[in-house]
Amino acid sequence: MAKYRIAWLPGDGIGKDVMDAARIVLDKIDLDAEYLPGDIGWEFWCKEGNPLPDRTIRLLKETDCALFGAITSKPKEEAEAELAPELRGKGYVYTSPIVRLRQEFNLRTNLRPCKAYPGNPLNYRDDIDIVVFRENTEDLYSGVEFHPLPKAVMDILVQNHPKMARFASVPLEEIAVTLRIVTRKGCENIVRDAFEYARKRGYRSVTVVEKPNVLRETSGLMIRVAREVAKDYPEIQLWEANIDAMCMWLLKNPQDYGVLVTTNMFGDIISDLAAQLVGGLGFASAANIGDNYAVFEPTHGSAPKYAGQYKVNPMAMLLAVRLMLEWLGEQEKADRLEQAIATVVREGRVRTYDMGGNSSTLDVAHEVARKYVELG
Ligand code: IPM
Ligand code: MG
Repeated sequence: MAKYRIAWLPGDGIGKDVMDAARIVLDKIDLDAEYLPGDIGWEFWCKEGNPLPDRTIRLLKETDCALFGAITSKPKEEAEAELAPELRGKGYVYTSPIVRLRQEFNLRTNLRPCKAYPGNPLNYRDDIDIVVFRENTEDLYSGVEFHPLPKAVMDILVQNHPKMARFASVPLEEIAVTLRIVTRKGCENIVRDAFEYARKRGYRSVTVVEKPNVLRETSGLMIRVAREVAKDYPEIQLWEANIDAMCMWLLKNPQDYGVLVTTNMFGDIISDLAAQLVGGLGFASAANIGDNYAVFEPTHGSAPKYAGQYKVNPMAMLLAVRLMLEWLGEQEKADRLEQAIATVVREGRVRTYDMGGNSSTLDVAHEVARKYVELG
C-alpha cells in the first residue's frame, strides 16, 4: 500500500487542466502516494442537486488529504436554472463545496503564502513575502443568514439591542441578515497558528488585520485575543491594522509586511489583494488545514472560458502541491519543488500567456518537473 492516500478533486472548468499539470510534477517527484478521484463541482449540482455528493465526503474520510482544482459557483437564480428539470423547484440550494469542506472537516486555518519569485514580470515588487492566515470556518461565512427575517428573530433582536429600533418597522421580507459569528477559540487558533509560523520561519512581525473601531465585539475579540497570544512570542512584534488602511498600506509598502492574520471575510479580501502583488491568481495557493485533514488548492476560480485549453498558469496549483508536501512532512521535496518553480520563473523561457509567454499549462509543468530532477 502507498504511504499516502490523496483525494484527487479536479472539480470543473480549468480545475482539470491544472490538476493534470500537478500530476506531471507529482509523478516526477516520486511521492509514494495513491490518488483517488472524487466527484465534485458544477456537473454534480446540475445532475444531482449537490455539488459535493456524500460519496465524495466518504472518500475524503478515507484519505490523508485532498488536492482540489477549481469549481464554478453561480448566484442563486442562475444555479437553480441550470438544475436538471426534474430537480427544479424542489428546494435544492447551492452552497459552495469548498466552503462546505472547510466547515465539515473543520479546516480552520487557511494559509495563503504570497511570495514574489524574482523575475516574474507580474510582480509588483520582487521583495514581497507575505503570508495570510485566514480563519476558515466562522465569521460572515458561518452561513447563518435570514431572508425574509423570521418574526421571532426580529422580535428577539429588537428586545435585546437598542440599535435594532431603527429596523423594527421594516417589512420582514425586505430585510436580510447575515450573522458575523466569531468565537474566542476560533480567534485563538488562527492567531496561534500565525505566530507559530512566524516563529518557525523567522518573521519578525505578525499583523492582525481587523476593524475594531466599528466592529467592536467581533473584531474587538480578535484583537484582544491577539494581544494575549502575542505575549507567548516576545521575539515577534504584534502590529494592529484596520482592514481598510491595510489595503492601502499593502499597495504602498508591501515589502514591510510578513505574516498577516485575520478573520474569514477580511482574509478572503486581503488574500486576493496580496496575490495580485506577486503575479495574480495564477500564483496564489492555499492550504485549508484542520487537526486531522487538509485540502490544498489554487485560489483561482474555474475560468470556464479557458476550460480544456491548457492555457492557464499552473503555478498556483504547483505551489499548492508544495504546501501539501510540506504538510505531509516531505519538507525536502517541498523545498526542492519551490526552488524548481522559482528557477522556471526566473529563467523565463517557459511561460503561460498571463506572463507574456505562449507555453501551455502542461509545458510549464514539464519544465518545473525537469528542473526538479536537475536540482536533485
Ligand atoms: C477563496 C474563494 C472562496 C471563498 C469562494 C470560491 C467561495 O474566493 O477561496 O478565497 O470566498 O472563500
Ligand atoms: Mg477568495
